[in-house]
Amino acid sequence: MLKEGLEKQEILKILDEKLKSDYSYKSGSILGSMCTEPLAIAVEVYMKYVAKNLGDPGLFLGTADLEKELVTEIGELFRGKKIIGTFTTGGSEANLIAMRIAKKLRPDIAYPEVVVPYSAHLSFDKAADLLGIKLRKAKLHDNFELDLDHFNSLINNNTCGVVGIAGTTSLGLIDPIEDIGKLIEGKNIFFHVDAAFGGFILPFLKELNYPVPAWDFSVNSVDSITADPHKMGLGIIPSGGFFLRDPSILQKTGFEIPYLAGGNFKHFHIVGTRSGGTVIAFWVILKSLGFNGFLEIVKNCMDNTRYLTQRINEIKGVKLATNPTINIVGITTENKENICKIDEELRKRNWMIGKFEDFNLIRVVIMPHVQKTHLQNFTDDLEKILKKLKIS
Ligand SMILES: Cc1ncc(COP(=O)(O)O)c(C=O)c1O
Repeated sequence: MLKEGLEKQEILKILDEKLKSDYSYKSGSILGSMCTEPLAIAVEVYMKYVAKNLGDPGLFLGTADLEKELVTEIGELFRGKKIIGTFTTGGSEANLIAMRIAKKLRPDIAYPEVVVPYSAHLSFDKAADLLGIKLRKAKLHDNFELDLDHFNSLINNNTCGVVGIAGTTSLGLIDPIEDIGKLIEGKNIFFHVDAAFGGFILPFLKELNYPVPAWDFSVNSVDSITADPHKMGLGIIPSGGFFLRDPSILQKTGFEIPYLAGGNFKHFHIVGTRSGGTVIAFWVILKSLGFNGFLEIVKNCMDNTRYLTQRINEIKGVKLATNPTINIVGITTENKENICKIDEELRKRNWMIGKFEDFNLIRVVIMPHVQKTHLQNFTDDLEKILKKLKIS
């Protein structure tokens, strides 16, 4: 540590230099991230309220009320009534909270198990590890959709929870949430839907007349939902969301914090101190964009998704892993060539995309910062690489 502090100008200069190697959303080469540039007004408001701490809600009563208001509003967007919940650090924490609730609600099960689709995000493996839960992974069909029969065969007397995904990490697919619900009818099993990515796109896609199967609280058996503002919500990092149908579960399973200003309140969080600024910023995003603002953003993402889909269909050597349902495009090879070679070459040319070796695919996420020209350049480079590798 320096003995004497430096002048601001000097610090900023050093910082600029040190952060030069970071990619920026504006550069056009980030095609594999589920995060994006937050809405400008959200950044402004976040800076203003950066010191708000929702880990101590008794000190920030207004912010705590704002969070409740926001949760109710989002709950309604997800077609629930009087939904409770909380903002988290992201989808991983929200999924961890859900898995913990599933376990806590079934103290009668000595060796708890949770059934998830094979496509479930890694956060479920982490949560299972932390909570001592056995994760049972249901197979996918060749078209990457969930094998519901296999899912059903994994449910047994030790099952405390099941999970469906509304917008899978690799391909953006939506699991058959209603069908999963039917499998657990009358079984006292907690049903969590991971819509970390899908949550802030599916309600708008439906309005735009895309086929969106029921995935939210309109499905009676769905107990909780993860949906992240810092993905398609254009929120500030870190902001995830956990939404819960039955408020009594907070009393039954919440952690009690006795020593803070607000007195004995219960919460679900893994963390203690947590940002109020990100919550206020998301409140501002909803007020600023409104439903129609989101519609426009989603429409633009889907137009660009269609453009990329068409381009991939034209290029020899690669094909779509599946027809995109949302703004995620999975690209695989036509002749089962290893996708890693292509991914490696793309990275050499600064294309930052996702790679899923299990499925032999690369993933492009068409976020709001992704423009058609970026996709044009990307597919031009992809064609050149396929020629170089003699794959086309
Ligand atoms: C479906 C899904 N769930 C959960 C997560 C984890 O979210 P986070 O990175 O915010 O913890 C992701 C991240 O990509 C995801 O795609």
